[in-house]
Amino acid sequence: QVPPARSSVSLGFNSIPGSLTDAVTIPEGYKAQILAPWGTPLNDKAAPWKADGSNTAEDQANSVGQNHDGMHFFPLNDAADDGLLCINHEYIEQDALHPMGPTLDADTGLRNVIDEVRKEINAHGITVVRIRLVEGNWTVVTNDSHNRRITGASTLDIAGPVAYSEHLVTPFSPDGSQARGTLNNCGNGYTPWGTYLTCEENWPEYFVNKGELTESQKRIGIGTSKTRYGWADLAGHEEERVDEFARFDVTATGAGALYDYRNEANGHGYIVEIDPYSPNARGVKRTALGRFRHEGCTFGKLEEGKSLVFYSGHDSRFEYLYKFVSKASWSEADAKPANRLATGAKYMDDGVLYVARFNEDGSGTWLALEPGSSTQDGKTLADYFATQADILLNTPGAADLLGATPMDRPEWCAVDPFTGSAYLTLTNNSKRTETNSANPRLKNNFGHIIRWDEGASDTEFNWDIFVFGAPTDNADYNLSNLSEFNQFASPDGLSFDKRGILWIQTDNGASEVTSYTNDQMLAVVPSTLTDGDGKQQTIGEANQTELRRFFVGPNGCEVTGFAISPDYRSVFANIQHPDNWPVSNDATEATPAGERIRPRAATVVIRKLDGTEVGV
Ligand code: FEO
Ligand code: CA
Ligand code: CA
Ligand code: CA
Repeated sequence: QVPPARSSVSLGFNSIPGSLTDAVTIPEGYKAQILAPWGTPLNDKAAPWKADGSNTAEDQANSVGQNHDGMHFFPLNDAADDGLLCINHEYIEQDALHPMGPTLDADTGLRNVIDEVRKEINAHGITVVRIRLVEGNWTVVTNDSHNRRITGASTLDIAGPVAYSEHLVTPFSPDGSQARGTLNNCGNGYTPWGTYLTCEENWPEYFVNKGELTESQKRIGIGTSKTRYGWADLAGHEEERVDEFARFDVTATGAGALYDYRNEANGHGYIVEIDPYSPNARGVKRTALGRFRHEGCTFGKLEEGKSLVFYSGHDSRFEYLYKFVSKASWSEADAKPANRLATGAKYMDDGVLYVARFNEDGSGTWLALEPGSSTQDGKTLADYFATQADILLNTPGAADLLGATPMDRPEWCAVDPFTGSAYLTLTNNSKRTETNSANPRLKNNFGHIIRWDEGASDTEFNWDIFVFGAPTDNADYNLSNLSEFNQFASPDGLSFDKRGILWIQTDNGASEVTSYTNDQMLAVVPSTLTDGDGKQQTIGEANQTELRRFFVGPNGCEVTGFAISPDYRSVFANIQHPDNWPVSNDATEATPAGERIRPRAATVVIRKLDGTEVGV
């Protein structure tokens, strides 16, 4: 029998203590610099970021967005010191975005300053920016031809089974082939052919239906009284309401009505593919991968001649884990294609979407979201949905009927490059009152990471729980024997680098841990944790000191998004929604006590002082 592959690296730093300051902390021998904070101009159309919040919507459309989340580094000419960074901007901090927060009409309480609303829409979406390493510091290359923003207002193409269906017909896209904007881009992925994947997460709350909700709107939770930031109704601006803003109000109006945007939200909730190397290529929403609150999108181990697999979690309490299996077989020749988005169409527009059932005995079953699949009540999905497009439009509703396992908020997924094992963060679920063996803790405030290996067929897998988040002082919950040096809660961001190091990031909700440390990034090399028979161990079974805290963020933030340069000498992590940071280009410099600054989400680049590989 062939022994399982394992990484040859081991972590070369000591776990750092927790921290509760307005600064980043890192191990000795490292430095951390700020790169591309919110408002950094991408080109000369944008004025430099202003500390009083007075930048315009036009500035924002040409500058880095707010609240950085998932990201990926794409090298140019295979260089390790020159490339394109793609960054998600999940949502906005209105108080930081505007000089005095959002302006509201005194009579109606509605938004009434058009430029403010446009600025908010433009602060969402994606940034593609060229960056270069110059004398040990990464810098933004302003005016590079690759630099661009894709925002909540950009035109995107739609592909896969839902495209061109009646569900997507809007005044903007009468043939149902396009949508405007990508919103709430949280986790991310990338493809083996060099494109970026951005995931639309909490998009339902950007829309409102004041009438009767459709089945899919009810299931996903479209709002019924107001939108998240009040974009749908602008006091005193009827003209602009027609198209640019009224589209967020999806209340059905009479047939032939001028402003019939009832289908607008149907163009959201997808995995979006972007070719960073082709600045004029529109992004494409790949509907075959389902429509829900996508947290991330991660491809499985590549095998020549076998289907390509993508995993994606639906982040909400009691939601599900999904797997897409391509119809096309993977060919290594597609790793460097002439047309990247055509390759995306080949692998991502045709295939089978599955949802996971975690059986009590450690086995699992992937349930196909197809018309012929049997439902729990002895019928088939075809009894409930007329077409595959209908199934995809209400993906979670179809998954309910198949008997998928409700999880503790599926967030990011990562696949071990050595073993092929997949890992999924289940961030927390304070409302869990009934357990199953894959979600075994009541009132799970701390979260856990589940792991699985695919089985002999597309529909089988085997799983175990890799680590349980917990504070050290709660024996009932600390099932992985964490110590002061690696206690954590609410795992969220999750990435493997190609050396086999798993990077775990937190978005903390549990006071037992937040009273000890701010959000953090930990590292571990799972493939090296094996028992005498070569079987992979959990953290509870292994030497627990192999899970090490590498990084702690400033007060108020979450640590999310991971990228690494091809030479492993630069690690990129994002600080989202900091309270009062950063004060200089040095991410470890604390904001002086008593000083209030306008906070800026930013990418932090971590490098060793001697310039060698990070982490080992
Ligand atoms: Fe936006 Fe599920 O974190
Ligand atoms: Ca977040
Ligand atoms: Ca997240
Ligand atoms: Ca989260």
